[in-house]
Amino acid sequence: MTTRSSTHIGSRDKPLLKALDGEIVSPPPIWLMRQAGRYLPEYREVRKAAGDFLALCHTPDLAAEATLQPVRRFGLDAAIVFSDILVVPHALGQGIRFEEGKGPILDAIRAREQLKSLDKAGLDERLSSVYAALARVSLALPDAVSLIGFAGAPWTVATYMVEGGSSRDFAVAKGWAFSDERGFGELIDILVDAIAEHLAAQVDAGADVLQIFDTWAGVLPRAQFIRWCVGPVEEIVSRVRRRHPGIPIIGFPRGAGVGYEIYARATGVDAVGIDSSVPLYWAASDLQSVCAVQGNLDPVSLLVGGDAMVAHAREIVSVLGKGPFVFNLGHGVLKTTPPDNVAALVATVRAL
Ligand code: CP3
Repeated sequence: MTTRSSTHIGSRDKPLLKALDGEIVSPPPIWLMRQAGRYLPEYREVRKAAGDFLALCHTPDLAAEATLQPVRRFGLDAAIVFSDILVVPHALGQGIRFEEGKGPILDAIRAREQLKSLDKAGLDERLSSVYAALARVSLALPDAVSLIGFAGAPWTVATYMVEGGSSRDFAVAKGWAFSDERGFGELIDILVDAIAEHLAAQVDAGADVLQIFDTWAGVLPRAQFIRWCVGPVEEIVSRVRRRHPGIPIIGFPRGAGVGYEIYARATGVDAVGIDSSVPLYWAASDLQSVCAVQGNLDPVSLLVGGDAMVAHAREIVSVLGKGPFVFNLGHGVLKTTPPDNVAALVATVRAL
């Protein structure tokens, strides 16, 4: 096991930091992607108070409250700041709104000339509410609980910027990337700058771990995955480490398949988040020999709960718990998940 990060001040008390530092922690630390959200009645209250979703992201008191809710309720090992991957294009000046039941809608950027409309100058100021929320949460958290800052990876953020929202086939974003490497590369370069800056600023504000979400890494052919996912994330990791040597970074190239291995080696992340399709024994032999592994219970298993969930969770821990490991889902908590199932999952993992 190669250990990439130096030991952190306080890591002795934080199970998540120990696991990311290459230690075998038993029981393993547990947190869940999208652990704050609509499946929690207390979140729906805060969301109502804020009015719209972006207002919630940009009101530090309310964002801090949403961040703390799942930690209070379930006693998780980490809080992840309540925000979104799309606050970065918003802060660069792109028009964006969230419509009920429709997801995000952006004023699409589809040509090189439109990149001039993106403005990096005010980034820090426009994202200052995220840093204020982190500072608040960091004061409120128990010593053993880690605070995670995050950003979307350039490729995933670019898909939303170019498609103008969610997509089924990514024809516009992939079409641009495949046909005009230089033009699309300019967009990715702008995002590398902005995202590296945003991640480093979150550490300044109190984050003690960072996660980079590349939700749509799995839709690219191998060569394009290397060009648009691995390369830019490698650059971001090295820039963030220049400012914050030793800050633990988790990469989540969802759907990367066998590409997970080159991603883990080339980017230099401390851990990879694996989706639910990744075979456990392969992850143990080919990924845990490179870095820590985080994952990978199917979110639907958590949704249905019961004996099947307990059996899946036990199998994951029995295979991956022999190496550096963080228990998580393979993707985010689904909005119809009963909160009691999350409590049962935490109890199951802690009992192992
Ligand atoms: O994990 C957490 O608890 C922290 C908060 C968080 C949110 N989004 C809050 C959110 C995090 C880490 C994200 C990441 C995110 N956002 C990703 C990467 C992870 C993933 O799930 O794939 C992506 C692709 C987005 C973009 C995004 N934000 C979409 C496509 C949507 C609409 C779909 C949906 O779930 O409604 C959002 C909105 C969003 N982000 C919500 C929350 C709680 C729901 C909005 C609401 O409350 O109305």
